Amino acid sequence: MNVRTIRVDDLTGMQACNLQNLPENYTIRYYLYHAMTWPSLSFVAEDHKGRIVGYILAKMEEDAGKGEELHGHVTSISVLRSYRRLGLAKKLMEQSQKAMATIYGASFVSLHVRKSNRAALNLYRDTLGFTLKATESKYYADGEDAYAMHLSLKDQGTVA
Ligand code: ACO
Repeated sequence: MNVRTIRVDDLTGMQACNLQNLPENYTIRYYLYHAMTWPSLSFVAEDHKGRIVGYILAKMEEDAGKGEELHGHVTSISVLRSYRRLGLAKKLMEQSQKAMATIYGASFVSLHVRKSNRAALNLYRDTLGFTLKATESKYYADGEDAYAMHLSLKDQGTVA
């Protein structure tokens, strides 16, 4: 499996992958916004035929000027079911985190995850070392709470 930065012609494949995997869905325009604004932060995993089997959609936080440290944010990540537990999500996260730190000088990365999402929580907390910052009540459209999680990129040694 090959992991690489996204191209504009990947966006429909990313959207298809997202629709199969998550109830949080986005317009192509929103994918395009990420791709055009922060082209080095989003990645895809493709199979040997070039079919997209996983993606990470990420951005820099624009309100970081208001007293908050400059940081990256993972909008969405998913991997098709038959390609899971191969280390792809870990690789997608690490590549994006590295780009946030080295290209944009992000001091940490943030994300939201459903309280009930055990696989993603294990990935973030146990594999990557994210910590819980807050619980956001009824964050999702169906009323489920979110965990707001952070990972320092300074601790990873990716920021000078
Ligand atoms: N159960 C328990 N732990 C898991 C699971 C699972 N099903 N899947 C991954 N993990 C943890 C493990 O610690 C794993 O390490 P290990 O395999 O050495 O034990 C570690 O995460 C790394 O696993 P990867 O193989 O890199 O993860 P994968 O490529 O399978 O993708 C993902 C994980 C993205 C959560 C996948 O299950 C998925 O697409 N789920 C549906 C979509 C989703 O929930 N996305 C996250 C929403 S939150 C957001 O987008 C910010």
